[in-house]
Amino acid sequence: MKIERFGLERWMTTWELDVECDIAESGILPLTLDDLLALSPAPDALTRDLHHTPLGYSEARGTLALRQALAGTYANVHPDGVLVTTGAIEANFLLFNLLLNPGDHAVIVAPAYQQLLSVPRAIGCEVSEWRLTPESGFRFDIKELRRLVRPETKLIVINSPHNPTGASLSDAQLRDIIAIADDCGAMILSDEAYRGLRHPGGPPMATPVVDLTPRGISVGTFSKPYGLPGLRIGWIAASPELAERAWAMRDYVSLSPAKLSDRLALEAVRVRDRIFARNDEIIAANLKTAREWFAANADIASWTEPVAGLLALMKLATDVPSMEVADGLAREAKVMLAPGSVFGYEGYLRIGIGQRPDIFAEGLRRAGAYLRSLAKERVPADAMGE
Ligand SMILES: Cc1ncc(COP(=O)(O)O)c(C=O)c1O
Repeated sequence: MKIERFGLERWMTTWELDVECDIAESGILPLTLDDLLALSPAPDALTRDLHHTPLGYSEARGTLALRQALAGTYANVHPDGVLVTTGAIEANFLLFNLLLNPGDHAVIVAPAYQQLLSVPRAIGCEVSEWRLTPESGFRFDIKELRRLVRPETKLIVINSPHNPTGASLSDAQLRDIIAIADDCGAMILSDEAYRGLRHPGGPPMATPVVDLTPRGISVGTFSKPYGLPGLRIGWIAASPELAERAWAMRDYVSLSPAKLSDRLALEAVRVRDRIFARNDEIIAANLKTAREWFAANADIASWTEPVAGLLALMKLATDVPSMEVADGLAREAKVMLAPGSVFGYEGYLRIGIGQRPDIFAEGLRRAGAYLRSLAKERVPADAMGE
């Protein structure tokens, strides 16, 4: 398989050890083991389990306890329909390889977490991008999806809440998407990595697609709403038959989840209401800071506020290429804001609102100073009377 470079991942690894204020991160402030123990109603039992678990291979599909707990977060999913994977990234990778063949047509949301577009292309599929555009206020346009789908379309790929715009599908829109998939017989892969990251006072989150239609497959992860990306645990929620096929492919990739991660993930599902309450506080604080910052800096940047999830695109007033701006911010201000160009959106930076509130505020303060200095440096010649 020949595959494009993962632009965002490569860019982030260039700077992640140098920056002091990472406000591009796609997740919520990660929990420590101590944080998880503090949230747990039975910290001693958890500690004992962690210390006494033989570090052998784990149950290949994920432990039954974890699959039951995850199935319990849906209305319509059997534990045998859950396959625990190495992050949502493995879940998506397996599904693309199961559901798509060279020459197949897929309609995929764009911009997107690059994997969603690059893997189907690497498989040799014809990809139609369902674009969220600045003109539509970075929102899902169902009419456009209807235009893109063909009688032979095999797969529709959606992601809500959306990385990188913060758009969020409503239940009504999801039902329209299902009707469109029914018409052409396509499956729907719904990357729900940000499910659960509702904004305080924001609209309700759409129902997981797997609960609404047999065509629907939901992908989830502990990386975003649970603040546990280091566990590298995600999952597929689908029919038992499809989960079984994904499992058969996974035998060749990662075999089984990491045992300690499986146990910690189980604890996280058990205390998820407390983790989500912590998320609400972080999101509310950072949204307030961001709103104030954008109001005070309207001459250098603007944004379409995220409806849900943790990400949004920040539009720059400068015409300096976004990669140059992002490199300069990382090098000189030690702030990470991701270049929009890696999503195909020049003139934008991606911002994440999941960081620790004081670091988030400091990151924006430094970003403001840097963008302002850039604006001064680049005073156009005609403005100087030349
Ligand atoms: C939309 C989306 N899907 C999947 C992933 C992969 O997440 P994981 O850490 O669970 O592999 C990410 C990570 O940023 C993402 O943003």
